[in-house]
Amino acid sequence: MNRSTIKIRLMKADDFGAVVGIDEKVLKIPRPGYYEVKFEKLLRSKDYLPVSLVAEDEAGTVVGFIMGELYIGEYGISQEEATLDTIGVDPSCRHKGIGEQLINEFVDHLRNVGVRKINTLVAWNDSKLIHFFSANHFSPSKTINLERNI
Ligand SMILES: CC(C)(COP(=O)(O)OP(=O)(O)OC[C@H]1O[C@@H](n2cnc3c(N)ncnc32)[C@H](O)[C@@H]1OP(=O)(O)O)[C@@H](O)C(=O)NCCC(=O)NCCS
Repeated sequence: MNRSTIKIRLMKADDFGAVVGIDEKVLKIPRPGYYEVKFEKLLRSKDYLPVSLVAEDEAGTVVGFIMGELYIGEYGISQEEATLDTIGVDPSCRHKGIGEQLINEFVDHLRNVGVRKINTLVAWNDSKLIHFFSANHFSPSKTINLERNI
């Protein structure tokens, strides 16, 4: 497998199992409920533009995905900021540029519909993921998340 044999395409309902499978390999726990909600929103909500993509190898196997949200709202006006919720590449297919290809296509899609900024959240101590996003031109925002346990 090399970069040129990877195809990036829009995510569809049939990709559910592959996405949950990659996520489970990454996090070591299955999260089908989390993805059921996300797929429902992605495929049925009129308020969100579908900006979720998958990477397929030459055999048509899904080896990575990226999911985000662009809220359009009731008047169909797209916003200038979108969210990147989750990205995952099958551990056996990493370091081949698939993550970068997913980010680049994701950014191109959003730029074409008028988005000017993409937000994402990363655990502060996930240095590998922070390094990956930094290499893909993400930088710390000027706001910080606050929380309080109750
Ligand atoms: C972060 C993640 C998406 C990166 O995917 P990837 O396909 O390995 O990404 P890339 O190949 O574009 O880049 C990774 C590294 O490989 C390097 N690389 C890319 N192409 C390469 C090639 N042909 N040869 C050698 N190295 C290469 C990149 O330079 C990069 O190196 P760096 O880490 O030193 O910057 C992947 O590691 C992942 O899924 N991590 C878990 C994310 C997570 O926790 N998600 C939440 C739940 S799904």
